Amino acid sequence: MKKLPGIALIFMIVLSNTTAVNAAEGDAEKGKALFAVCLACHGANGEGNAALNAPANGGQDEWYVVRQLNNFRAGVRGAHASDIFGAQMRPMALTLVNEQAVNDVAAYIATLPVPDLTTTIEGNAEAGKKAFAICVACHGASGEGNVSLNAPRLSGQYDWYIKRQIENFKTGIRGTDPKDIYGAQMRPMAMILASDEQVRDVTAYIATLK
Ligand code: HEC
Ligand code: HEC
Repeated sequence: MKKLPGIALIFMIVLSNTTAVNAAEGDAEKGKALFAVCLACHGANGEGNAALNAPANGGQDEWYVVRQLNNFRAGVRGAHASDIFGAQMRPMALTLVNEQAVNDVAAYIATLPVPDLTTTIEGNAEAGKKAFAICVACHGASGEGNVSLNAPRLSGQYDWYIKRQIENFKTGIRGTDPKDIYGAQMRPMAMILASDEQVRDVTAYIATLK
């Protein structure tokens, strides 16, 4: 019975998401030049860098990368007073002077491979699989994402980054800006993972997805 409100909420959100986000028209060649700024943290192949807290970019969906970069630029993401990692990313997004530059760099990122990931989070993946049942509605059974529900791919991303984002949604560091309509859909889903143990378990399960 405890899960009921979450399920009802998913149902409402799924119903309200009728339009898909269009993939951006970007020029990957131009985007490659712009990515020179990014590789200091995200790596030459967008493989990410745990020591610099920078997630992987390789393999992430173009439409989602476009939205996050625009959100960072607009301060919809990364402007919360406690968002120390978002605050590192925000000025980098601001080096992309207009939407065309955002689209170009996202088109280049779309050509980068999914990195070989190492796992860092200890959790009970079996228990996490049960908790992930609710996430499947939007992110898909393999964590492949769903553009029509605006839900990004979760597989192919570092566990430490996934865990941090779930925690950020829970504490409201992410997803509370009044203009963050998609973050606002994700936030109550993160709240369903009430304990740190549940967050670790679901993260450990996501790390097994291909
Ligand atoms: C100074 C290091 C640094 C540089 C340079 C940098 N980033 Fe980031 N980036 C980060 C960090 C740290 C995060 C994680 C923010 C968080 O935890 O919310 C991030 C997050 C992101 C995300 C969000 C990923 C997701 O799954 O939501 C994207 C997209 C991104 N960066 C793209 C870029 C691009 C494109 C550039 C170059 C224009 C760039 N970054 C330059 C540090 C950096
Ligand atoms: C109602 C649909 C929905 C459900 C169910 C849902 N999510 Fe999400 N999730 C989203 C959306 C939409 C976003 C993108 C938010 C944004 O654009 O900033 C997101 C983003 C995320 C991110 C950030 C990814 C990144 O690259 O930064 C993580 C991690 C995540 N979800 C994990 C989960 C987990 C774990 C569950 C299950 C407990 C879950 N989600 C359930 C819709 C959903």
